[in-house]
Amino acid sequence: MSQTSTVTVGLGARSYDIHVGTGLLAQAGALIAPLLARPRTVIVTDETVAALHVPALQASLDRAGIASDTITLPPGEGSKSFAQLAALCDGLLAHGVERKDVVIALGGGVIGDLTGFAASILKRGCRFVQIPTTLLAQVDSSVGGKTGINTAAGKNLIGSFHQPILVLADTGVLATLPPRQLRAGYAEVVKYGLINDTDFFSWCEANGAAVLAGDSAALRYAVAYSCKAKADIVAADERETQDVRALLNLGHTFGHAYEAEAGYSEALLHGEAVAIGMADAFRYSAHIGLCPAADAARVIAHLNAVGLPTRNPLPATAEVLAQHMVHDKKAEAGQLTFILTRGIGRSFVQKGVRLDDVARYLHQEAA
Ligand code: NAD
Ligand code: GLY
Repeated sequence: MSQTSTVTVGLGARSYDIHVGTGLLAQAGALIAPLLARPRTVIVTDETVAALHVPALQASLDRAGIASDTITLPPGEGSKSFAQLAALCDGLLAHGVERKDVVIALGGGVIGDLTGFAASILKRGCRFVQIPTTLLAQVDSSVGGKTGINTAAGKNLIGSFHQPILVLADTGVLATLPPRQLRAGYAEVVKYGLINDTDFFSWCEANGAAVLAGDSAALRYAVAYSCKAKADIVAADERETQDVRALLNLGHTFGHAYEAEAGYSEALLHGEAVAIGMADAFRYSAHIGLCPAADAARVIAHLNAVGLPTRNPLPATAEVLAQHMVHDKKAEAGQLTFILTRGIGRSFVQKGVRLDDVARYLHQEAA
């Protein structure tokens, strides 16, 4: 008998459950049926996930008496675009989706972000369920209601806050995920320990290899614990107005500079960039005397032990990387905001960081 853990995201009338465990795809119909105004839905997915996991979801919906249509998009970051958003909205309308209906996002963060955004504007807002199929989506993007698309000016610049009504994180579907994608998602798991939970970081050191080997108990614990950590932060600061939710961006300002330089391509996955960025956040914090050098070394040792990168793999100069940071969404009136740290589990939001100071650090790193 497989076990399921349940985490609730406490947002008053918009609260929802996240179920974590194996076999949830097969139970999806029974879990979603009570939420429907009428027994029909549309599944939105990408071509890769469609071939692997749509039949099981459709069968589960069938067993629960729920009729379903499927919209399949190309895989990859390119689908988070105005063009695909328009095509998706047209497709949902063509399938007769009404405001009281529920749309299902089955896929990684790309499908979740795009489908959530479409749901937030379709008929001025309809409901959606997240069934995340990457580790990154299970521990991060499917939780918390940030949805959106990219534009020529940058990533996630157009979007909305729109919470799902249910998240089903079936860790069994991760068996088909390429190991590199699993590892990239694991960087976001480690992040929760580094933000404010030393014990969880120690758990990661002891169990990271089991998570990445697909051990189902370790995976369920890692996903459920990460979802609880994110749920607590989201419940405290849903719209990122109080310097709480911003903590989730640990490693992201450095990381986004590397991602931007790599053209948001497969050359550097988001989670890989976050791993390098978290190493930078610790190294930089040690460099300015905030954080013990031993903590930075311990973080880097764990990330390296599981095969994640911790240094800039690109030929970009410190100046080029610093320029990418100027365009960071979190920049306010030209001042940079970084998540810095006093040690493992002791991260905090630091506004007004000087770009030339960060550039000096990056120079030193490159030397
Ligand atoms: P992704 O959605 O592109 O998925 C990665 C690849 O894995 C894709 O090719 C996909 O087809 C494939 N895939 C998905 N599930 C699979 C499975 N079970 N088996 C085999 N292949 C599978 O990428 P991602 O890493 O899941 O998400 C990245 C996106 O998430 C970015 O756009 C990022 O901006 C966004 N994000 C959003 C938030 C948020 O809070 N909304 C947080 C973090 C990241
Ligand atoms: N991934 C950052 C957030 O959800 O706020």
